[in-house]
Amino acid sequence: MKRCFVVLLLFVFLTWNVQCARILFVFPIPSYSHYQLGFRMAKELAERGHQVTSINPYPQKTPIKNYKDVSIEEIEAFFEDLKKNLFGMNTLGPVDNIRYLFKMGTNLTEYTFKNKNVQKLLQSGETFDVVIIEHFLNDALVGIGHHFKAPVIIVTPGASKELNSYVLANPAPSSYVPSVLSGFTKHMNFWQRTQNFLFYILNDVVRELTYMPVQREIFKKYFKTDLELDDVLYNVSLMFTNSHVSINDAIPHLPNIIEIGGFHVNPPKKLPDDLQKYLDDSKDGVVLFSMGSNLKSKDLKPEVRDAILKAFGKIKQQVLWKFEADLPSTPKNVKVMKWLPQQDVLAHPNVRAFVSHGGLLSNIEAVYHGVPIVGIPVFGDQKSNVITAANNGYAVIVPFPELSEEKLSWALNEILNNPKYRENVKQRSRIMNDRPLKPIDAAIYWIEHVIRHEGAPHLRSAGLDLKWYQREMIDIVIVLTLVTVVLFIIFYIIIKRILGMCFKKELTVPKTKKNR
Ligand SMILES: *[C@@H]1O[C@H](CO)[C@@H](O)[C@H](O)[C@H]1NC(C)=O
Repeated sequence: MKRCFVVLLLFVFLTWNVQCARILFVFPIPSYSHYQLGFRMAKELAERGHQVTSINPYPQKTPIKNYKDVSIEEIEAFFEDLKKNLFGMNTLGPVDNIRYLFKMGTNLTEYTFKNKNVQKLLQSGETFDVVIIEHFLNDALVGIGHHFKAPVIIVTPGASKELNSYVLANPAPSSYVPSVLSGFTKHMNFWQRTQNFLFYILNDVVRELTYMPVQREIFKKYFKTDLELDDVLYNVSLMFTNSHVSINDAIPHLPNIIEIGGFHVNPPKKLPDDLQKYLDDSKDGVVLFSMGSNLKSKDLKPEVRDAILKAFGKIKQQVLWKFEADLPSTPKNVKVMKWLPQQDVLAHPNVRAFVSHGGLLSNIEAVYHGVPIVGIPVFGDQKSNVITAANNGYAVIVPFPELSEEKLSWALNEILNNPKYRENVKQRSRIMNDRPLKPIDAAIYWIEHVIRHEGAPHLRSAGLDLKWYQREMIDIVIVLTLVTVVLFIIFYIIIKRILGMCFKKELTVPKTKKNR
């Protein structure tokens, strides 16, 4: 009996635990923060015994067990010019912003497919059990999953919003889910809801008219198949979002959308000795300043840079500034470093505030470690990240175009001397860390779930089989409206007839009376 039980257990274990799967990652965006998300997941899977292959622009210098890069590093050079213009992006209106993003996405998709290493992999005859793709304006890439006859999981660098929710037909009502580019909070007045509604429509229309046709072409060009891109795209198994209710709004999610925001944060590592000593010795506290990995501080205009330095010079805390160039003269409380381990610095108890561009990863790391934020949003999702953070009471905002010595001084004073920001961020940090599974473990669980259940079609929403007007009930509203109008007309005609008949009688009756 006992032996039978052991055999049974072993059987269950062998069939239900995905022992060693072959997993392909496609993380082609030439931006380290995007890549970092995929790498964290890929490395974890490799450590747990899976065979991981990863298409990305940042190949490892030292080999990792069970892990193999397919390098597309040439893509970085192409992107470098584009990055220089990022500081100018805050001047773009919503239409230009959407079109710019779609165009960038299309170029990156082509570049990825054209790459000779990618072509070699596609022709190699290798097989994979699942393909995990960063979905960021590159829908044609799901063809790679189709090519390898493997289910596809997509990872979005942000929350489930208009740039990705269509893939799984996830409901995102524009009445209370603000669009990424709107800059609204979840509580919108009538006028804001109108605008938000229009933003969604605009996004859908621009996507369908200008972006998707090109993606469909790219798909057809690189994959010889009778299927259309839509057949493959609207068959994606699962989406991971880099979001969590501790930092994002509570919004609807289908069962195949899993929030794993915070999964990229590693337990704090030991700091370099000099940095450790600097942080330990700063008894008045430290303000960390970094504009992230895409926006280079050296691209700042000199007058803006001087204004920032003056504002920093006035506070009693030490300031640690990640700046990629040498600075000629800095106030004595400002220390400039070309690179620093941001997560590990944020983990130090003496860090009192984080002056940041409001990039999502920076926001998550600050909340994880309970550090309040001065947000200087520049482009893309940064504004909405910082607005949500301010709305949740742990950030103050200085929009980049308004950055001046006075504004920054005010913001620093507020964040350093009003205790409510610190209390709120600590509370958010407790929420972020209070979950049934660590987010990285949840990610692994769901990847293995998709492999075990061959694409997990049970998770797919029937909403995907409807046309957009059916999903939004527009056809039914139109039919019901028509029926109501027709009924009203019939009703009206009948009433008119009846009344007409009555009046006729009334009119004729007295007449006959009189006549009598
Ligand atoms: C859709 O996914 C399922 C698994 O979830 C798979 O069996 C099927 O072949 C896929 N269909 C297409 C058209 O890719």
